[in-house]
Amino acid sequence: MRVFIAGATGVLGRRLVDRFAERGHAVTGLTRSAEGDAIVEARGGEPHRGNLFHPVSLARGAEGADAVIHAATAIPTGVRPSEADWRRNDRVRREGTEALTAAAAEVGAGLYLQQSITWVARQPDGSAFDENSVPHPTRVTQSALDAEYIAGRAGDREGFDVGVLRCGTFYAPDAAHTRTTGENLRKGRLPIPGGGPLGRRDAAISVLHVDDAARAFVAAAEAGVEGLWHVVDDEPVAVAALLRSLAERLDAPSPRRLPGWLLVPVLGRETVRAFTKSATTTNRRFREEVGWEPAYPTYREGLEQVVEAWQEEGFLVDGVGAEASG
Ligand SMILES: NC(=O)c1ccc[n+]([C@@H]2O[C@H](COP(=O)([O-])OP(=O)(O)OC[C@H]3O[C@@H](n4cnc5c(N)ncnc54)[C@H](OP(=O)(O)O)[C@@H]3O)[C@@H](O)[C@H]2O)c1
Repeated sequence: MRVFIAGATGVLGRRLVDRFAERGHAVTGLTRSAEGDAIVEARGGEPHRGNLFHPVSLARGAEGADAVIHAATAIPTGVRPSEADWRRNDRVRREGTEALTAAAAEVGAGLYLQQSITWVARQPDGSAFDENSVPHPTRVTQSALDAEYIAGRAGDREGFDVGVLRCGTFYAPDAAHTRTTGENLRKGRLPIPGGGPLGRRDAAISVLHVDDAARAFVAAAEAGVEGLWHVVDDEPVAVAALLRSLAERLDAPSPRRLPGWLLVPVLGRETVRAFTKSATTTNRRFREEVGWEPAYPTYREGLEQVVEAWQEEGFLVDGVGAEASG
């Protein structure tokens, strides 16, 4: 099949180009720079210059595509993002989905896949949820939920299938937030927000190695079925266990706990929320309907791969950051 990928130069997108090409599919990747062209070409894809906010460029890039994929994001990677940062991300989600689904319709693609996030359905009481649970979006996740609806409505109107892959919290050796977490742990600067001391339950989350996310998109495209799916690994993990496990693998000091409210000025409200509110779900429906299973079934195997990749790269080894750990 031929696929057109928006976000082809990103952490997820690069893996999508790799994986689709490996499986013998023809890939066109949307790019915005010469650097982006090189990334796509090196992975066996064909770069197409354009922008999610220039609809004409999308229809040209999607020409002949059987499947169109939205894997673009402008999620801020810095500490304490501003309202303007979040608005940029909202635009990529809402306007980007409008434009990309219009391109899919124009070229007659049969399938449109949308990347979304599981925690749009996080329950206020922290209980586990699934695809049937009522969503509870926040300021930051509302646009992801809107994008799901925009995609679904476009599919109904234009007659193409829509698959929404709500992914768990991503991690990978090259993901900006995984690297920052590793660096801050090495420096002893990342506490475990909230939990514990007053007997409160530790927050737990469902996570996903980005390699498994890419495999999930390829599996969904090849299965050619539509649906709404939660794509996570097999075992939710307590945030405290996740951070301690990574610290241990990096020979970093074990992180201590600090009350969440105390950390809001340092980490920002969204990060503290992500670490202190449980968001656990299951991949059952995706496994059954698409036939995918994670290569990294839990964070243990996944973190092992992350740290091995960092060792090969020379990132966070040989004492880097250790001198500041006190
Ligand atoms: N589940 C999770 O924990 C989690 C975490 C982070 C992200 N995500 C999701 O995963 C997906 C990919 O994230 P990522 O980590 O791969 O992000 P990333 O590495 O920052 O990549 C972002 C991609 O989006 C592209 N992009 C941004 N604005 C664009 C625009 N206006 N037009 C065209 N392309 C644009 C970028 O292109 P350039 O290279 O040209 O900038 C890049 O290819 C997104 O859907 C995001 O919502 C999920």
